[in-house]
Amino acid sequence: MVTVRFLFLVILCQWKSVESLNILGIFVYEGPSHFFVFKQYLEKLAEKGHNLTVISHFPREEVIPNYHDISLAGTIKIPQGAMPMERSFWTIIKITDYILAAGNNDCKVMLENESVQELWKSKRKFDLVIMEHFTSDCGLGLAYKLDAPVVQLKTSDFTPWQYGTFGIPFNPSYAPFIMTSNLKSSVYKRVEKTILHHLLIFKYMNAQKVDQETLGKYFDIPPLEQLSREVKFLLLNHNFVLTGSRLLPSNVIEVGGYHVAPPKPLPADIQKYVEESKNGVIYISFGTLLNEASLPEYKMKAILDALAELPQRVVWKWNGQIFSGDRNKIYAAKWLPQNDLLAHPNVHAFFSHSGHLSAIEAIFHGVPMIAMPVLGDQPAIADCVERSGLGVQIALNELTKDELLNKFRTVLASDFRARVKSLSRAYSARPASAMSSAIFWTEFAAQHNVSARHPAADVPLHQYLCLDVIAVIGTFITICILILWKVLNLLLSFTRKFINLNVKNKRD
Ligand SMILES: *[C@@H]1O[C@H](CO)[C@@H](O)[C@H](O)[C@H]1NC(C)=O
Ligand SMILES: *[C@@H]1O[C@H](CO)[C@@H](O)[C@H](O)[C@H]1NC(C)=O
Repeated sequence: MVTVRFLFLVILCQWKSVESLNILGIFVYEGPSHFFVFKQYLEKLAEKGHNLTVISHFPREEVIPNYHDISLAGTIKIPQGAMPMERSFWTIIKITDYILAAGNNDCKVMLENESVQELWKSKRKFDLVIMEHFTSDCGLGLAYKLDAPVVQLKTSDFTPWQYGTFGIPFNPSYAPFIMTSNLKSSVYKRVEKTILHHLLIFKYMNAQKVDQETLGKYFDIPPLEQLSREVKFLLLNHNFVLTGSRLLPSNVIEVGGYHVAPPKPLPADIQKYVEESKNGVIYISFGTLLNEASLPEYKMKAILDALAELPQRVVWKWNGQIFSGDRNKIYAAKWLPQNDLLAHPNVHAFFSHSGHLSAIEAIFHGVPMIAMPVLGDQPAIADCVERSGLGVQIALNELTKDELLNKFRTVLASDFRARVKSLSRAYSARPASAMSSAIFWTEFAAQHNVSARHPAADVPLHQYLCLDVIAVIGTFITICILILWKVLNLLLSFTRKFINLNVKNKRD
């Protein structure tokens, strides 16, 4: 009888774990890389039988079961080459202002959409909301209205405003700042990081007020700041082998590399080109925002001259005008299947702007990198590339033919490549694959009503910084010193009086 009941329980539990969930995905930022990074994960959820409704600017071209789009396509112009290229304090502030304004606009665009409004007007029931956390917490308001728990997803590293909501300490002595290089830790750098960190949080709080007002036009919600602390889990595209060890609470789950798709065969012409190269291939891509046409001509010449001296062929993701170089040496195309290329054993090095996703794909497939960071989180990622041993970096302003040739020779050396291969094996060695962890914690958030939030997220600032404790101990020590001082003074004056008395007595 007991075993029957036990079996029944086991079956019930298993049935529970595969129960189909109604999931709403909110991906309202218009940058393509902020959506396509989650493609694998969303497909996996649908494949597992969960019913997905996805709000985004990128409706699917091929239909798959269980996947329903609410399309915002065409409502916002997708940014292209809009970012300033030079690195400075002001660039960081300009980029922040730009993405925060975009976040405010995304909030308006989403709530104006009739299919989105229909979700709360028809009182649709969702078991879970998944959303990107980037520049706006607007989606949390919608999730609150729909009364669903939230799992947030992160494309890149923590932005300054996320440390506090998750209770993670930002100490400039060891915590990386997302938009600067973090290799050197001089006192000047740490002061700069501290100022930027707090300035960006201040800017974010202002942007959050705008979202709060926008949401308030449609329904009543608690402060977004409070909602952001009630998020169940954050899935972070991070793993210590590449981006270093972190102090993370239990509700931040490391799923670094979960966006990497299983490689597909290359298109026939590229495959032929890659495999015919006896000395291997160098793959070059500067992402979508950095344009080859925007590189100064002498920098471009330096790159081409360096490549000409190497025996490897080159495959180049070329954003500029029609490529006019040697076709036998360089294969240039506007679009290339990056992941499939990096997975090909004949690709020996990767020259890149060092985007976070590119670096992950490089370590995943064990291809050494030359990182040439320009903006956003690229300088910080380039540090990780160098520190982990995945590659070397070169600054755009010190790019010369000889310097670049040096870097290429370093990463193409057989011992360097062997080290990167072993690093790659370490990256993938996990008790569960990144994707299965991501799916597991997503389902967990919908099925179990428990909180993994760290208490540090809730304590008031003066307690977080121990100011009250320091004040009490400080006061105690001060009082002790004062008492000691008084006692000493008293003793001293007694002694003086005594001596004076003695002297007087002697004189008399
Ligand atoms: C799945 O989601 C779609 C789109 O939101 C919805 O129309 C449908 O009713 C949902 N199916 C179930 C079984 O909840
Ligand atoms: C989840 O737990 C919290 C606190 O224990 C409770 O206030 C809340 O109502 C619960 N939510 C659901 C959906 O059961």
